[in-house]
Amino acid sequence: MSAVLPSSASLYDRVRRVIPPIEWPLFVEDIDAIQELKRQRNAVILAHNYQTPEIFHCVADIVGDSLALARKAMTVDAEIIVLAGVHFMAETAKLLNPDKTVLIPDLGAGCSLAESITAEDVRLMRQRYPSVPVVTYVNTSAAVKAESDICCTSGNALAVVKSLGAPRVIMLPDEYLAKNIAAQTKVEIIAWKGRCEVHERFTAADIRELREAHPGISVLAHPECPPEVVAEADFAGSTAAMSDYVARHRPARVVLMTECSMSDNVAVEHPEVDFVRPCNLCPHMKRITLANIRTALEENRHVVTIDPHVAERARWAVERMLFV
Ligand code: 13P
Ligand code: SF4
Repeated sequence: MSAVLPSSASLYDRVRRVIPPIEWPLFVEDIDAIQELKRQRNAVILAHNYQTPEIFHCVADIVGDSLALARKAMTVDAEIIVLAGVHFMAETAKLLNPDKTVLIPDLGAGCSLAESITAEDVRLMRQRYPSVPVVTYVNTSAAVKAESDICCTSGNALAVVKSLGAPRVIMLPDEYLAKNIAAQTKVEIIAWKGRCEVHERFTAADIRELREAHPGISVLAHPECPPEVVAEADFAGSTAAMSDYVARHRPARVVLMTECSMSDNVAVEHPEVDFVRPCNLCPHMKRITLANIRTALEENRHVVTIDPHVAERARWAVERMLFV
């Protein structure tokens, strides 16, 4: 324990269950520098639930799922927003804060879903299914959002689909999210073929093995998982919904079928819950580090910009979702 410096002791207390004492000194200097830079530059850090605990618990001002980050981005009272997450999240924050500077610490922090579809693909879908409304997952570029009627996240997808009152909707680009929503509504869902490279790797056999190894375990899955995984889970929901489930039910033992850092971040709040941790890393989320958050604030990079013609139409689709 002598490795923990006195100035950081209270912060370390919070994360001691998920960050070994030997690793903590590697983080302290960057954490102190980032806290000071936030004050100097009037900046806030928005961090997604998949960020590592030293970011999520030690430098972030606002944390949450994609929906919460979008909602809270609108209430930010600061000149600069640093988005500790992936590029589409930074674009969404910029759409909702056109007059603020939004920074993403690593431009390579992408998303396999966002990569799976282009604006031209959406235009072709509209030609193929005229007058069918297009619901677009926020895990897409601003250019794709601009071609859409409304956005959704995993946290509100069912409500968004129902809000349209249409017998058929096109739901892009996550095939599994679309199928998981289709299982909960009579609305006919026309899907795309995008996949999350992290969640598509979970299988129903994984769940059966977990239940055998840990009788009584609660299995929570993200709706980007294949439908057969969601069908065998005890609960499926967004990252925030999974976190709320653990807080409400306090299962003795739980597994979150999702990105690895999620369990660490929730475990910090719930020492009484035993987290079994087979998980898959998101290489895009993991591009964000304390070091590049610090550099982003020191050097004002990388500034997120969106073509104003695209931004206007994309903002409409995002804002419409926030009113559902
Ligand atoms: P949430 O909206 O549930 O936080 O999910 C975002 C994401 O990228 C999941 O892979
Ligand atoms: Fe995209 Fe999947 Fe990573 Fe989420 S976990 S950012 S959906 S690749």
